[in-house]
Amino acid sequence: MPALEHWERWYERNFPSGPSPFARRCMAYLVAGLSVISLGCGSGRDLLFFARQGLNCTGVDYCKAAVSRLRKLRVENAEFICQDVAELNGQPYDVAYARFLLHSMPEEKEDALLSWCAAHCRTLCIEARSDRGAVPDRDHYRRLINSGALLAKLSRLGFTTLLFEERDGLSPVEGEDPVLIDWIGVRA
Ligand SMILES: C[S@@+](CC[C@H](N)C(=O)[O-])C[C@H]1O[C@@H](n2cnc3c(N)ncnc32)[C@H](O)[C@@H]1O
Repeated sequence: MPALEHWERWYERNFPSGPSPFARRCMAYLVAGLSVISLGCGSGRDLLFFARQGLNCTGVDYCKAAVSRLRKLRVENAEFICQDVAELNGQPYDVAYARFLLHSMPEEKEDALLSWCAAHCRTLCIEARSDRGAVPDRDHYRRLINSGALLAKLSRLGFTTLLFEERDGLSPVEGEDPVLIDWIGVRA
């Protein structure tokens, strides 16, 4: 099934709420008043948490079902864009946040997105599934991420690593405890 069709169906039936452990972890590096773009925001579970912490939030997702539901919440310091994150342009943000996005998209889209982040955002926060974990049987697109290749790419783009961890136990999800990459970096 094409990835977008999968997400349209999935968010019509599911809408997870409550911040992920990674979002809570990121708050140690963020302060109220910063602008954050949540890339592939899905149900907005982390974006709504950031908004409650006083960050000015923009959520981007290409899934109409998710974005239209989030827009109806009318959160004061949050706006939403229904768009492919590989085709972003426009204004800068203090922070780009991408949880469980990179493994949901092909590498050429990841490259376009990370280049955009390097040109438009100072801080970048990424959580993604590592290729050191098992490959679960799935009915939708998934590309496990090699941390060495990702870190080399981020370094070439000018990011300095503030946090890097790769292990299980970081964010158990739907009865599974996958090996994840948690990474936070800044550009000078
Ligand atoms: C695994 S979900 C993660 C959602 C959310 N970040 C979270 O942690 O709960 C992946 C999300 O990325 C979105 N997505 C995947 N590829 C995308 C793309 N190229 N452009 C915009 N959104 C995309 C999907 O629609 C879905 O909402």
